[in-house]
Order: sequence, then structure tokens, then C-alpha cells
Amino acid sequence: MATSEERYAQAIKNNIDPDIVPHLPRIPKTVRFSDSRLIGDGVHSEVYSASATYKKQTITVALKFFSQKWKERFDAEVQSYEFLEHNSVSGVAPTVYGCDRNWNRERLREVLGDALRPTSSLRTPVSVVMLEYIADSVPLSVDSVTWRICKDALGGLDLIHLAQVVHHDIREPNILIVPSTGRVVWIDFSSSFVNPNDSEIWNDRQVAYSLLYLDVVDHGLCCGLILAVNRPIGGRIPRSSFYADSVRSRRKPLQWHLKTP
Ligand SMILES: Nc1ncnc2c1ncn2[C@@H]1O[C@H](COP(=O)(O)OP(=O)(O)O)[C@@H](O)[C@H]1O
Ligand SMILES: [Mg+2]
Repeated sequence: MATSEERYAQAIKNNIDPDIVPHLPRIPKTVRFSDSRLIGDGVHSEVYSASATYKKQTITVALKFFSQKWKERFDAEVQSYEFLEHNSVSGVAPTVYGCDRNWNRERLREVLGDALRPTSSLRTPVSVVMLEYIADSVPLSVDSVTWRICKDALGGLDLIHLAQVVHHDIREPNILIVPSTGRVVWIDFSSSFVNPNDSEIWNDRQVAYSLLYLDVVDHGLCCGLILAVNRPIGGRIPRSSFYADSVRSRRKPLQWHLKTP
């Protein structure tokens, strides 16, 4: 059994001390949700789109729910979004608005209304992450891929890695493309982990490379991909920038607001 010193040494082995990374804000109780709709259900979670109104501002959000049984998945997702936010990684993953824990049946019903089906696999209490809804998106596929999308997908993954987050579930449904703008967004950090070592980053990148390669080869775009990826892997954030002030005390939680993406 590892001592707490060993666990701490492990946690900061690659740059970022989790203790200095601010927690995601809690979703304020005064946010009003309407027009909820189920947009994804997997083994570990259910995802709904909804209109969220807070202080007279309304935006569409994605709400990703986890039953207690999948608490570790929820924690992984939350911690990775905290690391991304802390490192100002934006655009390549959804903006994260906040999270909450232990919603009971009543609160779930209030938020999801009729969108909560009797066959839902959610078991209360549930935990929830509130994210930017990526409107008009489609999953990566041979139909949606272009060499530019490959380049942006790998560029986005590099930024995620620079924030010391390994995605670890690189599959087509977890890479959303907005065809009208060409935006590429990495979603689903429930299998992710933070502060990886070099080979863990390398593995993640290799899986992405293989996936994109298969898609583009099908699409006859492999020359473009080779051009797109023929450059060094994004370097690590220098240790000094994070070690300079290894402040052990947590910063104040982020102020909650509905950031417009
Ligand atoms: N922020 C989002 N914007 C739009 N659609 C989303 C968003 N998050 C999830 N989805 C949709 O929900 C599906 C499941 O979400 P995901 O986070 O991958 O959960 P799971 O862990 O169940 O795979 C995705 O494949 C996507 O279609
Ligand atoms: Mg997924």
C-alpha cells in the first residue's frame, strides 16, 4: 500500500500538482433547465441537451449524467476538464460550465422532464457535468473527414496532452466535427487520466493516428495526413512554469457564469 507521500509524488510526477488546479464550479441551484433531449446513452452515462437559463441568459448545454456506480468515471471526466480549464485549453474540447453531485430523483425529473425515459439506466443519486453543447455536429467518419480535420484533430489532441490529460478512449464517436465550420472537438473524458508519462501520451497519439489513418486511407487522403502529422509531438509544458510556485493550497473555485463559447 502506497504511503501518502508516495501517492503525492505519483500525482505530481509529470508537472501539474492537482492541488493547485481549481475545482470546477458547482452548477448553481438557480439555473433553470428546459427542452431537455436525450442525445447519447452509453454504458457509463446518459447525455442530454437542454436550454439552461441563468441570470436572464439562455444557452444550450450538454448534461452528462453518471450513476453512483460510475463515480470513478465521473471523477476522471471532471478532473480532466479541470486540467484543461487550468491550462486554458479551449475550442478543441467543449467549454465546461460546472458539475454537481448527488442529484436525487426529484431534481433529475425537474431538469430532464419527460426526456427522462422509464427505461433510463440512471440510478439516483447521480452526478452531472455541464458542458457546451456542440450544435450541428457529427461524429468523425469517412464521410466527415478531410485532411484538414485530421490535422486539427491531432493538433487538438496535442493541446490536450500539453495540459497533461490523456484521453484514453480515442474512437470516432468521441471526436465531433462541425461540418459548417470544420471545428473538431474531443469529447468524452470519462476514461481519461492526468499527469501521464511520455509513453502514455505516445500511445494516445498513436491510437489517434491509426484511427485517422484508417479513415483517410478509405477516403484517399493519406498524403494530406502524412503532411499534417509530419512534425514533432507537441512538447511538454516546461516543468518550471508549474513548479515555480508549487502552492499546495487550492485556489478559489472559479466564479460561476455562463461563458459564451
Ligand atoms: N458536448 C456535446 N455536444 C454535443 N453532443 C454531445 C456532447 N457530449 C456528448 N454528446 C453526444 O453524446 C454521445 C455520448 O457522449 P459521451 O461523452 O461520448 O458519453 P459516453 O461515455 O456514454 O460515450 C456522443 O457520442 C455525442 O453524440
Ligand atoms: Mg463516448
